Amino acid sequence: MTADLFESVADASRSQETIAEGAVLLRGFARPIENELIAALRDIAQQAPFRHMVTPGGYAMSVAMTNCGSFGWVTDRAGYRYDGIDPLTGKPWPAMPPSFRALAEQAADRAGYAGFSPDACLVNRYQPGAKMSLHQDKDEQDFAAPIVSVSLGLPAIFLFGGLKRSDKPRRFRLEHGDIVVWGGPTRLFFHGVAPLADGEHAILGRQRINLTFRRAL
Ligand code: SIN
Ligand code: FE2
Repeated sequence: MTADLFESVADASRSQETIAEGAVLLRGFARPIENELIAALRDIAQQAPFRHMVTPGGYAMSVAMTNCGSFGWVTDRAGYRYDGIDPLTGKPWPAMPPSFRALAEQAADRAGYAGFSPDACLVNRYQPGAKMSLHQDKDEQDFAAPIVSVSLGLPAIFLFGGLKRSDKPRRFRLEHGDIVVWGGPTRLFFHGVAPLADGEHAILGRQRINLTFRRAL
């Protein structure tokens, strides 16, 4: 009874918006477990610190990154790839926390992708001014699984284009707790994040954290 009541209150504060065929924006979906997520995030960053990776072209990324799960996404002068070992520590990436996994699986399910089982979670940290240029997520072995992308902290403008780099991206304001799931016909859509505006988030301060869940292998 009480649980049902909480469920319906939580559901009322959420909304679900199809932004393209195969892509869904779940507003506020992560909010009910924000405390667990943030506590787990602190643990991860202690074991595998945020770092500014270098692109194959030799530029340091403005977004600081770390990973958890069996595989982590890395870039250096040699290229982009997934690796089971953190090159900074020489150790495996921290395990994917059960709260992270459950959230990603539930979000995928809600978006129409039942059975999603992520083996990689890239953790992106944006400080004011940091951005992510338009790109496709295409370092995964196959594209059957969707991408599940969780936003925490400061709001950001998410750019969601199409299959061609030249497709004009649409802009979506993503807030703390929002999740975007894209797969199927949109799995290889170009996407990015506009430079982060300065601000102060009540829990996370002057930053935005993004968790990107993927099936890498
Ligand atoms: C990414 O595409 O890896 C990040 C997307 C985001 O930060 O919302
Ligand atoms: Fe991406």
